Amino acid sequence: MAFTTEERYRPYADWSAEYIKTIQKNTALSPWRTHFHLEPPHGLLNDPNGFSYFNGKFSLFYQYFPFGAAHGLKSWLHTESEDLVHFTPTGTMLYPDTPLDSHGAYSGSAMQFDDKLFLFYTGNVRDENWVRHPYQIGALMDKDGKIEKINKVLIEQPDDVTDHFRDPQIFDYKGQYYAIVGGQNLDKKGIIKLYKAENNDYQDWRYVGDLDFQNDNTAYMMECPNFVFVDGKPVLIYCPQGLDKNVLDYQNIYPNMYKIGDDLDVENAKLVNPTPLMQFDYGFECYATQPFNTPDGRALCVSWLALPDMEYPTDKFDYQGCLSLVKELSFKNGKLCQNPVAAMESLRKDKQTFGAKSATDNVYELELDFAENTRHEFVLMADSQQNGLRIVVDTANGEVIVDRANCGEKFAEKFGTERRCDIEKQTATARIFLDKSVFEIFINGGEKVFSGRVFPNADQNGIAIVQGDVQGWIYSLDYNI
Ligand code: FRU
Repeated sequence: MAFTTEERYRPYADWSAEYIKTIQKNTALSPWRTHFHLEPPHGLLNDPNGFSYFNGKFSLFYQYFPFGAAHGLKSWLHTESEDLVHFTPTGTMLYPDTPLDSHGAYSGSAMQFDDKLFLFYTGNVRDENWVRHPYQIGALMDKDGKIEKINKVLIEQPDDVTDHFRDPQIFDYKGQYYAIVGGQNLDKKGIIKLYKAENNDYQDWRYVGDLDFQNDNTAYMMECPNFVFVDGKPVLIYCPQGLDKNVLDYQNIYPNMYKIGDDLDVENAKLVNPTPLMQFDYGFECYATQPFNTPDGRALCVSWLALPDMEYPTDKFDYQGCLSLVKELSFKNGKLCQNPVAAMESLRKDKQTFGAKSATDNVYELELDFAENTRHEFVLMADSQQNGLRIVVDTANGEVIVDRANCGEKFAEKFGTERRCDIEKQTATARIFLDKSVFEIFINGGEKVFSGRVFPNADQNGIAIVQGDVQGWIYSLDYNI
């Protein structure tokens, strides 16, 4: 169903309970519902928001439009977790229900202050001429999930940006709170602004400067900028929309990229000695990644495994989007690595030698080893013709290819059906999570990651080995353990 603008911005109270029941039933008919990835109960999920530690648990919200597979009037839906694997929705929502967020409670971050969780987000407002006014605003959530909005604008739209100014991230740098906000300047170039919390007061933000991160100035908007500190080094993860492919080639409609700095000079708003731009994920879907540093010093992140402005085969079941597993960031030989949190191992049920299989439930984990100087090709979600999700790990030519051209329902084909990356010409490993319609592939200890969605046909549930002697293990997974 295509949504009109009126439907996308219709007040929540004007949708009937009966309508919601109907779409809920339709969503339940989908053959592609995930087992251990967070999906919306119905409607559309996009960016992870407010990933934080609060009240002895992890909190994770997501951007939510409950009424169908469309980008409409967004709210935040809250989930919590003790182990970073099982996330339980608590029923708490941050609704677009004030004059400062009337057209959407857009993306943002969270941080505990005293016994409340401060939610820092963008209030998207359209006036009677449909002109957008972005307000950086806040709310406090208490231990019982009660939300109290702070009834004032915390950061006003500066004169030198357009109405694209959003996604505040609050972060702690050596005991002082700062925030960055993504935006577009009047030359229609993407920028990131840095603010400092005066006296560490989250209601009092002073502009420090436009962040100098050796921006190539080709993107027209920086969405969802986030800092995270890995072994003390600042990593800037963001979505430079419109980035010139000559700067760094990518195939997805919008990229999710990062730079690592030697240091962050907060006085001068400067990422010191940044690396060139790097791709965060080599797959088909990964956007709006939100990291945060835990109280015990870990760097965790979650990504949205879908992209803006796209249609997905689940749309006909009135839902769209899911979140990635929680990934821990670390450095290995100076390279940023992403790996699922250790607690993911708690889902393992039984372990078998990896090999061809005529049928699986498309819910499993693989740990694979690839000998050097060999081309390995295998197919997951394979039908009897060996059509499915094709993976090539070529240790002779030094590349990995993931090809979804023949895996179930076709979508997004104009952005290509294959993704690849270079690897070292030596032995390789892969850890792969498959979850009905999601794959996450971690190559060489998370040095390279491919994430994406596939919507297999009913007969696509086998494993085929096409070439090479792929060694390893397959674990069945049980989310309800
Ligand atoms: C990124 C984004 C953010 C915005 C949110 C709205 O996907 O466009 O910039 O805050 O989604 O849902």
